[in-house]
Amino acid sequence: MENTVQPDLKKSLYAEAEKELLSITEGETNITALMATVSCVLSEKFDYYFWTGFYVVDPQKENELVVGPYQGTLGCLRIPFGRGVCGTAAASRETQLVADVHAFPGHIACDSRSNSEIVVPVINRDGQLIAVLDVDSVEYGSFDETDRVSLESLMQRIFA
Ligand code: SME
Repeated sequence: MENTVQPDLKKSLYAEAEKELLSITEGETNITALMATVSCVLSEKFDYYFWTGFYVVDPQKENELVVGPYQGTLGCLRIPFGRGVCGTAAASRETQLVADVHAFPGHIACDSRSNSEIVVPVINRDGQLIAVLDVDSVEYGSFDETDRVSLESLMQRIFA
């Protein structure tokens, strides 16, 4: 099944989510609180979001992500840079838009129901990678340029 959200509806839902999140998080600097709130609001807003959350750069281990705040079914705990979709986004610092995760080399299947995903790097105001935002869908091809542009903008406005 392909994503059936109308493009205009998708854009307006992202605009709403960004407005709500900027208002709720105004003045908050705690990273865990910000990540938990972003995960919650996004997963409530979009029906096609099946797993929504953050993998955080582990300060104790070089080049490894560790699971952070999320909404959804059990996620794996650790992902090395360069592995799977999250690890590729972390290593390249570029958003990964994957229409069919089963075709992605090295994809890590935490939940076999996930069929497409988007992973967006989270960069702080010092230009350091602090995490990646991972959103999975049970449908194929759920994410497009609107998701990419909207989520990149949201990450920039909340975390940079
Ligand atoms: N799909 C991810 C792994 C994380 S989970 O889906 C929660 C990946 O390949 O990076």
